Amino acid sequence: MELIQKIEEARAFITGKADHRPATGLILGSGLGSLADEIEDAVHIPYSEIPHFAKSGAVGHANELVIGRLNGRSVAAMKGRFHYYEGFTLEEVTFPVRVMKALGVSDLIITNACGSVNEGFKPGDLMLITDHLNLTGTNPLIGPNIDELGTRFPDLTRAYDKKLRSLALRTADQLGFGLREGVYAWWSGPAYETPAEIRMIRTLGADAVGMSTVPESIVAAHAGLRVLGISCLTNMAAGILDQPLSHDEVIEVAANVRGKFVDLVKGVLEGMEEA
Ligand code: HPA
Repeated sequence: MELIQKIEEARAFITGKADHRPATGLILGSGLGSLADEIEDAVHIPYSEIPHFAKSGAVGHANELVIGRLNGRSVAAMKGRFHYYEGFTLEEVTFPVRVMKALGVSDLIITNACGSVNEGFKPGDLMLITDHLNLTGTNPLIGPNIDELGTRFPDLTRAYDKKLRSLALRTADQLGFGLREGVYAWWSGPAYETPAEIRMIRTLGADAVGMSTVPESIVAAHAGLRVLGISCLTNMAAGILDQPLSHDEVIEVAANVRGKFVDLVKGVLEGMEEA
């Protein structure tokens, strides 16, 4: 079946389940899914029910689309995402972004848990993504271009919207905490990086490294969506500290910043209309 038709079937299914017409999409990363619990008047749709959605088994993810209102704004939140390292194709990984666009979303907040490559940052810090490095050598837009979905050669100069970043900075300031800003590097995983790879990634100009976000951002740019990328730095990247990395630590640290993260996203949603 053609991709366009798959998107339409998923859109029609979701529209039939929920009355809300979401304006903002949220992709909630590892340990950050509890933000979806704040959504009011919520309709929960398991990914397994949505036509053409892949089925994710990643630990720490709930795998459902939650549609409702958050701080007065209609949102569609992905509680759990699809990762390339799980074996999904990049079309599967980014399919929900295309469906969100079809649902009428204009802004997408993409979040993740990631490792800090920048030695001046620390676990528990939140970082706005200013730009990315795609270190995987692949791209979700490889293949015939579907002109209805976007242009063949999308510009990524402004992949991470400056106005939304300013809004996030103002919001955090009002809430009384700071935000880091930096470049996120996409590493396919699932193995964490080696210390030598982290030195390489730092030399290349990244502040953070993780296994998601970039494919979704590229497809969002293709679709003409404004993107705000928020990373939760859950650990110092490999080799910075004399200790091993663990997924449990990633989930624990992400869960510990829940309060800050929820307040930030809610505040951003409040100002989104004017941004
Ligand atoms: N590297 C890659 N992905 C990650 C990390 C990391 O250190 N922490 C959380 N996700």
